[in-house]
Formats: sequence, C-alpha cells, structure tokens
Amino acid sequence: MKANVLTVTDGRTDKTYVLPIDAGTIRAMELRQMKEGAEDFGLMTYDPAFMNTASCKSSITYIDGDKGILRYRGYPIEELAEKCTFLEVAYLLLNGELPTDNQLKEWQNEVKHHTMLHETTKKFLEGFRYDAHPMGMFVSTVAALSTVYPEARNVLDAENRRRQIVRLIGKVPTIAAYTYRHSKGLPYVYPDDDLNYTGNFMNMLWRMVEPKYAAHPVMARALSVLFILHADHEQNCSTNTMRAVGSSQADPYLSVAAAAAALSGPLHGGANEAVLRMLDQIGTKENIPAYIEQVKAGKLKLMGFGHRVYKNYDPRARIIKWAADQVFRVTGRNPRLDMALELEKIALEDEYFIKRKLYPNVDFYSGIIYQAMGFSPDMFTVLFAIPRTVGWLAHWDELMRDTEQKIARPRQIYTGVMERHLPANRPAIQASAAV
Ligand code: SDX
Repeated sequence: MKANVLTVTDGRTDKTYVLPIDAGTIRAMELRQMKEGAEDFGLMTYDPAFMNTASCKSSITYIDGDKGILRYRGYPIEELAEKCTFLEVAYLLLNGELPTDNQLKEWQNEVKHHTMLHETTKKFLEGFRYDAHPMGMFVSTVAALSTVYPEARNVLDAENRRRQIVRLIGKVPTIAAYTYRHSKGLPYVYPDDDLNYTGNFMNMLWRMVEPKYAAHPVMARALSVLFILHADHEQNCSTNTMRAVGSSQADPYLSVAAAAAALSGPLHGGANEAVLRMLDQIGTKENIPAYIEQVKAGKLKLMGFGHRVYKNYDPRARIIKWAADQVFRVTGRNPRLDMALELEKIALEDEYFIKRKLYPNVDFYSGIIYQAMGFSPDMFTVLFAIPRTVGWLAHWDELMRDTEQKIARPRQIYTGVMERHLPANRPAIQASAAV
C-alpha cells in the first residue's frame, strides 16, 4: 500500500526522515529538523521567484496551466464570461457563491453607494503633472484613501474589512476615470447611479456636455467581459504582493496600492501597454520576421506571450478574441489586430516558442480592444487594476481569516562577508551638531 510520505536520507548524517505529503506538498518547516549538529539551523528550501512554492491555501481560483483551465470558485471562466455580469462575479469571488437575485440587487446598490470620492481627492489629483502616467496617479490615489478612512486599520474586524472592500470596489472605477480625465485636461464626471458598473465607468470617462451618457451596449458588455477575465488569477505577482503587505496588517488601501504597483510592471499587468508599443515598433507585417529573429536571439521579449503557469493557450486570450470581434463590429477593425494575428501565427509555428511553450496570454489581445474602444495605451494597466482589485481583496480577506498565516518574512542564503572589524584606532563619533 503506497504511503503518502516522502522518505529522505540526509547524506551528511545518514539519518532518514519520513515527511508527510499533503495536497502534493511537503511542509518546508519539516526540513528544519535535518541538521548536521545541535547548533545547525536546519535545512531550508531555496526557491528564487517562488517557482515551486505554495505560499497559502486558497479556495478562490483554480488554474491548470497544462490544460489551459481557469475557474473562479469552481465555475469555468468561459461560462462566467458568457452568462454573468462583473458584479455577480465579484460577489462570487468575495463570498464563494453567486448571489441570489435579492443579494445581487443589494450588492449592486451597496457598490453604487460607494462610487463617490471625497472632494479633497480631486485636489490631490490636481497635484499631478498634466502628463503623469495614469498608473502612478491610480496607485497614489488609492493609497491616499487610507487617510480618508483611518478606521480601515482595524483589519481584524470582519465587518470593517467588508465595509472597506465595498468602498474600494465602488471607488476604483471613479479613481481610474478621474486619472483619465486629468490626463486629458477634462472636468471630472460624477458617477451616475442609473448606470451599471461598466456603464457608469464609461460615463465618468467619456461624458462630455450631454445631460445623460448612454454607453454603447456592445462596448459596455465587452468591457464587462474583460473585467470578468481580469478579476483574479490565484497567486500572481500582484496578488502575492497584496498578501505580503496585508500579512503585516497594513490597511487594505495601502495593500491594494502596493498590489497595483506590482501589477504595473511590464512583465505583469504592464504587458498589455507593452504589446501595443511593440506592435507600433514592428510597424508592418513585413517587419514581423525580423522582430521574431531578435526575440529568438534573446534581444527582445515577445510581449503578451508566455506565462509562469499556462504552458498551453491562456483561456482568457481565446475569450478576448471573441470580445475583440464584437467591439470591431462597432468600431471598425483595428489594423493592429491583423498584425497581432500574423505575429501569433508565425510564433505558434516556430520551434523557439513551441519548445518553450510560449502562447499568447491575457495581455496579448486586450490592449488592441482597449485601443479600439478609445483608450490610450497608458490607461491599459489601470483597466487591468480595476477588476483585479476584487481578486486582491478576496485574497486579502481569505488571508485575514487564515489562522495559519503570519507576517510574511522569507529567509535568505547569505553570501556576504561573514565578519570583519573597523580599525581599532578609529575614534568613536562624539555627539555634535555637525554631520
Ligand atoms: C500576466 O502570474 C499571472 O497569473 C499573471 C497574469 C494574471 O492574470 O495575473 O496572468 C497576468 O502578468 C500575464 C503575463 C504578462 N507578461 C508578458 O506578456 C511579458 C512577456 N512574458 C514574459 O516576460 C514571461 O513569459 C513571463 C514573465 C510572463 C513568465 O516568465 P517566466 O515564467 O519567469 O519564464 P522565463 O522568463 O523563465 O522564460 C522561460 C523561457 C526563457 O527562455 P530560455 O532562458 O529558456 O532560453 O522562455 C523565454 C525566456 O527567455 N520566454 C520568452 C518570453 N517569455 C518567456 N521569450 C520571448 N518572449 C517572451 N514573452
């Protein structure tokens, strides 16, 4: 009868240890008993970038990278994108179940009640240069909300956490829209409670002098699908950041700001902006082979391709292609799409990408849709941060409820000089006004 254990023998001592295997893992702390002598600290694991380390137990999102599977609370992403609204999916991620009709109505009203920003926030935004990057403004403004809601520090109170969660989900579209309006030199547009989550966001972005903004239904639905696809993705870099900062019991506004800062990197959520800049740099289909050669020579990365977990097609990229078709029927075909399709075709037939299992990820096509909708590339990662705020908060709440979790504080392998001393004849510094 096979036992669910790992038996290891330490060659330094010839001692054998039997470690229990739980959910395909062994507990790293089990290694600490493996010592060379009584003074020895014991063994650790060394895992740069956490390539093979589970940092938590979570029931929110499941990914199978080899099969290209993504499920939120067990529901396939394809079904949620087709049959749910973004706020329904947000409720699911936060509460573990889809809302009943009554729960949804209550949830929608609660979120709508928190779309306004404290007026001082507008003055805060005025401090940014006209050409400030929207992600810098978004991160800073979310962090500034921690000064408006000091009670948010009471992170151990579940009811207080829930109040801040609703506030953040209600306010991040308003902050995002205000950063956009600031960068265009346009007056801010207040939220309109008659509109749904994405419709109101579009209202705050694009209403000009018309008394009432009417979002194009196809665009509003496409944006809602994009929000659903970007809502969560288990322990990605920015969610890991949310958990690490949250583990010190920092308030959720500062934790979300930190997570958004992590998302802004071009290897993560900043990739959608980088894809558009890459396509602009390539310029024409004729230039694609030369660009691919530079990628294969290791000089450039093919932005929007590859993934730490997906070694198959990112299921979100397939759905985004569907959304792109819907949007382009309204806006007209974005010429960048033909370039992207040609780039994908060439790459998927090339041994360099096949061998490394590099497929288009969620960022490869999303920017092309956003551009067709009228967004400038520097807004793309802000559009990623809005829905991902739900995922960050769901993981934060799960962390705060996890009795096993403590402040995140990894170890290291020290490679520096072990000990040395200053010259014995060097005098002590005396108290003085001089430096
Ligand atoms: C997101 O984690 C998530 O879940 C993230 C995300 C989410 O929803 O939160 O899915 C969102 O961040 C998607 C990824 C967006 N980033 C990009 O599109 C940037 C381009 N992609 C790469 O930088 C890269 O693929 C990563 C960062 C996404 C993943 O990198 P890994 O897992 O660390 O892989 P690696 O860098 O070790 O690459 C393995 C090999 C290397 O080649 P060799 O050294 O073996 O010769 O593949 C090569 C890499 O050079 N490679 C690429 C490549 N990605 C990997 N080569 C060219 N172009 C690329 N895009």
